[in-house]
Amino acid sequence: MQTTNAVDLGNPDLYTTLDRHGRWRELASEDAMVWSEPGSSPGGFWSVFSHQACAAVLGPSAPFTSEYGMMIGFDRDHPDNSGGQMMVVSEQDQHRKLRKLVGPLLSRAAARKLSERVRTEVRGVLDRVLDGEVCDVAAAIGPRIPAAVVCEILGVPVEDQDMLIDLTNHAFGGEDELFDGMTPRQAHTEILVYFDELVGARRESPGEDLVSTLLSDDELSIDDVVLNCDNVLIGGNETTRHAITGAVHAFATVPGLLARVRDGSADVDTVVDEVLRWTSPAMHVLRVSTSEVTINGRDLPPGTPVVAWLPAANRDPAVFEDPDTFLPDRKPNRHIAFGHGMHHCLGSALARIELAVVLREVAERVSRVELVKEPSWLRAVVVQGYRELPVRFAGR
Ligand code: HEM
Repeated sequence: MQTTNAVDLGNPDLYTTLDRHGRWRELASEDAMVWSEPGSSPGGFWSVFSHQACAAVLGPSAPFTSEYGMMIGFDRDHPDNSGGQMMVVSEQDQHRKLRKLVGPLLSRAAARKLSERVRTEVRGVLDRVLDGEVCDVAAAIGPRIPAAVVCEILGVPVEDQDMLIDLTNHAFGGEDELFDGMTPRQAHTEILVYFDELVGARRESPGEDLVSTLLSDDELSIDDVVLNCDNVLIGGNETTRHAITGAVHAFATVPGLLARVRDGSADVDTVVDEVLRWTSPAMHVLRVSTSEVTINGRDLPPGTPVVAWLPAANRDPAVFEDPDTFLPDRKPNRHIAFGHGMHHCLGSALARIELAVVLREVAERVSRVELVKEPSWLRAVVVQGYRELPVRFAGR
């Protein structure tokens, strides 16, 4: 099915209720290709939803680029300022170089080394929230863990971490009024100013951290260093926090899950993948075609923006049986929550470890998670995120 003149799918109001999943399922089932008129993106954009179409647009040999931007809001006449410099919006040599430099700091081995730090953070957070009071997981648990981990990787001193968590909330919380008082753009600018100072400090006394690693490459400008710190800060925080919140949501709503994780009858790595599929925190990624290409039977000229809706692909009924249900033993689970192709998430091993530790620690310490109120959702198009998830924990 191909639709033109549809509503503007970049309108964040469309994603604040669970109705979004019904709409996405219909579009994925029909393998729809939908055109959004200029609005949220000045030149308009195409959208794809099915697993096969999203994989086709993002695939390693697909003639598409991220270099002009990878999010709705893409403006042909004013492409992303960080294009060609920041990993997620660079291609070819710069992209390869950055993945090679940053990769070892986020590898499976590095993530395993960080798991003790994750455990300490999770235990500290649980100590604070296991008091029988209502706990908003989206605020009290979700953001803390990834922020602490990313700050560790970047080499951000402990005393600055709370401030940075707050800034990232503003920068990537979406258009939600919860984060009023500072626009996302202002928050982003403050983050970049902070990194500028941190870069200055690491130049004086280098360490083992990401800032020092990036600085050690003579070909990278200070701008490149700062932008790529920002990439890891945002990439690491703004998605993982919602997956972590979603893991607690699953404990509250999936019968038997808590006990099964505790007694080992559910395989934690398999549960982690189901959390990732079910929550799909990265809501979309955008690409721009570099040559003529045919997607879902439609010929697109070079320069055409196409958005892949990852949560739609991850609940595509053609690939996932009973897609709306959280199945702890789901296998295979070919979700694309971490994207697909050349830009596949570099922090995926770290995110998986964070989720596994959260699942194990909560199961160990908690006998029941009671949902106090249905969750509310962020008014955003970049992340599919929890605005509020109030629960009450019963300790063991
Ligand atoms: C890229 C999702 C956690 C760092 C991506 C992309 C997605 C994604 C979909 C691809 C973007 C594109 O194709 O344009 C997620 C999800 C996470 C997560 C769902 C958690 C549940 C993390 C963490 C880090 C991280 C913990 C680092 C600490 C990055 C980086 C890239 C990236 C650096 C750019 C890779 C490249 O362009 O080659 N992530 N991410 N992410 N992510 Fe993640």
